[in-house]
Amino acid sequence: MLFTTQVSRLGSALALGAAATHAAYTIQDSYDQTNFFEGFEFFSLPDPTNGFVRYQTAIEANANSLAGLANDAVYLGVDYTTMNPIGGRGSVRVNSKKSYTTGLIIADIAHQPASQCGTWPAFWTVGQDWPFNGEIDIIEGVNLDTNSTYTLHTGPGCTFSQGDCNAPGTGNIGCGTSSQDTQTFANGFNEIGGGIFAVEWTSSAINIFFFPRNGDIPQDIAAGQPDPSTWGNPQTSFSGEGCDIPSHFREHQIVFDTTLCGDWAGKVFSSDPVCASKASTCQDYVSQNPEAFRDSYWLINSVKVYSDGSAAKRDGAVRRRFTA
Ligand SMILES: *[C@@H]1O[C@H](CO)[C@@H](O)[C@H](O)[C@H]1NC(C)=O
Repeated sequence: MLFTTQVSRLGSALALGAAATHAAYTIQDSYDQTNFFEGFEFFSLPDPTNGFVRYQTAIEANANSLAGLANDAVYLGVDYTTMNPIGGRGSVRVNSKKSYTTGLIIADIAHQPASQCGTWPAFWTVGQDWPFNGEIDIIEGVNLDTNSTYTLHTGPGCTFSQGDCNAPGTGNIGCGTSSQDTQTFANGFNEIGGGIFAVEWTSSAINIFFFPRNGDIPQDIAAGQPDPSTWGNPQTSFSGEGCDIPSHFREHQIVFDTTLCGDWAGKVFSSDPVCASKASTCQDYVSQNPEAFRDSYWLINSVKVYSDGSAAKRDGAVRRRFTA
């Protein structure tokens, strides 16, 4: 009798899940000026991408005014006063303490590091044991780039229409595509007061959306009940038979950083004629021009992480079955 009740309750929970045509997202974590530095921690090891930066500890960043609150938002900046800093220019890399697998990440950002030779800012998510648990690059570019580049990195065996996300033989450049919108990056973004990036990560797709501050930001985002199925086309969608997302993307931390020079910005510094005219190497330029990095800061209004409520409901049903 009890068993029958259990089964029918399970049956109706599953039916509800199946009837839902798209995920119902519920808030899981919200980071803003009130709690950001509790939920995010400072990464202060040498930059894995070989940048000319000294990532600060929380204590250093605070003492040097490289991280804090400004304009009711979270400020993450670069040292713009020290001439010829030893071992790299002071900068900040932070990551969420919590990790997430699938869900919806919505970042409301007011300012990105401005267009500047030597800079390589990024907003991204990443799993342990790189690249085997994946990386999702949401905002990224170098030097005087005008558009964000959306890139995924994985271990072998994950290909989308954007390419092989392991890109063997080329140092894992990943699979990606450049935004067709200059409002997504650097000065173009800052001139309109920024905007909102959203990553919808399901077991079958990773979709990246952008909503400029001066455009139509979906009402459901402000209302705290985001429904990506109503948002129209994403900036890019990674989906298809060539990649089993659940086996390549797991347990991601959310990261903001600004590195300088290194494996990307440094490598292409001299192929940008404007940057090449300023100094013979990226490191020389960054060392000798502290004031150039005054606007190399992030201003983050909020980062909200939503989970797929219907998935949670299904998990709940399964748990009841095992305890019966
Ligand atoms: C950047 O966006 C502009 C439109 O805003 C577009 O014309 C240009 O081709 C894009 N650049 C790249 C590298 O995709």
